[in-house]
Amino acid sequence: MLRLSNVSYTVDGKDILSSIDLTIEAGESVVITGHNGSGKSTLIKIIMGIITPTSGNIYLNGEDITDLPIYERAKRGLTIAFQQPVKFKGLTVKNLIDTATSHSNNVSDVCDYLSKVGLCAKNYIDRELDDTLSGGELKRIEIAMAMAKGGEVYLFDEPEAGIDLWSFEELTSVFDALGDKTRVIVSHQEKVIATADRIVVLSQGKVDRVGETSEIMKSLYVSRTCARLGGDK
Ligand SMILES: Nc1ncnc2c1ncn2[C@@H]1O[C@H](COP(=O)(O)OP(=O)(O)OP(=O)(O)O)[C@@H](O)[C@H]1O
Ligand SMILES: [Mg+2]
Repeated sequence: MLRLSNVSYTVDGKDILSSIDLTIEAGESVVITGHNGSGKSTLIKIIMGIITPTSGNIYLNGEDITDLPIYERAKRGLTIAFQQPVKFKGLTVKNLIDTATSHSNNVSDVCDYLSKVGLCAKNYIDRELDDTLSGGELKRIEIAMAMAKGGEVYLFDEPEAGIDLWSFEELTSVFDALGDKTRVIVSHQEKVIATADRIVVLSQGKVDRVGETSEIMKSLYVSRTCARLGGDK
């Protein structure tokens, strides 16, 4: 279980996150959504330990991990998929997967990870991680790397970014394949949002709404329609 208790983050007097209380059960899939700048990426970074909250605490399975560095959190099963994998001259896709698993994988294992994210493995396994890979390809490789690393709690920040609309089914099946793992997914996309057990809507650094997916999806639809019609919510 992952629990955020009264988490706030302030930079130069600006409240980016304010008093966030959130409990995510083991095995649950939670989507965090909300307007640009509402604090979603900041929240993910705080959970992973990339930034430290100004106040409040984060607990993983009852342990207070607020002051633990990223690698200690990773050891405890937190895994993050960044927007893009690290690019190093000479580093191939297979090297990256080997780094994630901390051992050399045989080709068929690497192929499995790549095909899960919809990449034809033989075309990519020896590709260098450089600017010749497209945004969507890099994103898929990043997700494959997170899956190869393994873990108990997966954090994805806009996994759909750069992935074409036609590949959405594949992407949602990646989340399904993580079955019993805890997933915290930042997304703006209806199809990704619909895969969640619960949705958290952030607004100006605060939890605006949280609830079952079907219930919140309806309210998101109403908010959008009213916004188009010039209403409040
Ligand atoms: N270190 C910082 N210094 C100043 N402002 C910051 C800092 N980090 C984040 N912010 C601001 O905090 C707000 C929330 O940023 P964040 O990246 O969490 O938003 P987001 O919800 O992920 O948005 P998007 O949907 O565009 O990705 C933004 O207005 C951002 O400019
Ligand atoms: Mg963001």
